[in-house]
Amino acid sequence: MNDAHSGIVKAVIPAAGLGTRFLPATKATPKEMLPVVDKPAIQYVVEEAVNAGLTDVLMITGRNKRALEDHFDRNYELEDALRRKGDHDRLSRVEESTELAALHYVRQGDPRGLGHAVLCAQPHVGDEPFVVLLGDDLIDPRDPLLTRMAEVRQEYGGSVVALMEVDPDQVHLYGCAAVKPTADDDVVKITDLVEKPAHGEAPSNHAVIGRYVLDPAVFDVLRTTEPGRGGEIQLTDALRRLTENETLGGPVHGVIFRGRRYDTGDRGDYLRAIVRLACEREDLGPDFRAWLKQLVAEGL
Ligand code: G1P
Repeated sequence: MNDAHSGIVKAVIPAAGLGTRFLPATKATPKEMLPVVDKPAIQYVVEEAVNAGLTDVLMITGRNKRALEDHFDRNYELEDALRRKGDHDRLSRVEESTELAALHYVRQGDPRGLGHAVLCAQPHVGDEPFVVLLGDDLIDPRDPLLTRMAEVRQEYGGSVVALMEVDPDQVHLYGCAAVKPTADDDVVKITDLVEKPAHGEAPSNHAVIGRYVLDPAVFDVLRTTEPGRGGEIQLTDALRRLTENETLGGPVHGVIFRGRRYDTGDRGDYLRAIVRLACEREDLGPDFRAWLKQLVAEGL
């Protein structure tokens, strides 16, 4: 990553989910390709990985995900047409996604959960620490999180997950961590983890958001992790086993993220993400903000 000493170069992006919350839009289009303003959501995530110095990106895909590969590949016909028109601005935006990083793909034949998707990365990742980025969470590029997580792994070893304090009503939507403070204000030691706890059973309001720096020891643990919540092999359960028995490859720490995060996996939050990012864009923002103010003034 940016810090040359962390030695982490590989990112894994699970993208095999069905995206049922966005049907019918996702009937024939992967949810990762839904635009957030004018870029597919997945491109923001790849850019975040690249900005953190990760140069090798593996996507775990499945059926119906060809558009992902096409998006990060060349489109000679389109590039040629734009070049002939002299439209260099759009040409460079088309080329941008191709030149980001070395992208690799592996298919998760059976959708058996996030833990299983991560396990599909093992042949590519090998025995190196790596980063997992979940596509539904967009982290604002002005609030870098991954570089801090890599620093924390260097300091404490083991694995590091990103945590955010959420409203207690929302904890059941996330993996939830029991934590102990450390000498660093933004770092906690994780003592237990529960995937999507039932109301009243959450150990805290520290929710796992979709960024993980993982020790390769997690692969061995995942291989013997039984299906959990929803009948799926959960990454959260494998990480809990690392907290229970540190000799397996722990410890697990959490970095408490206090920056801007947009959840594009939920329709309401997806709309809010688009409005916020559009408002902040230099090219679109001024007109869009004026229109939005007018709309609100009209009493919406
Ligand atoms: C996944 C993880 C969960 C985590 C969440 C973050 O759940 O299983 O632990 O809190 O991502 O977005 P999903 O939202 O994919 O159901």
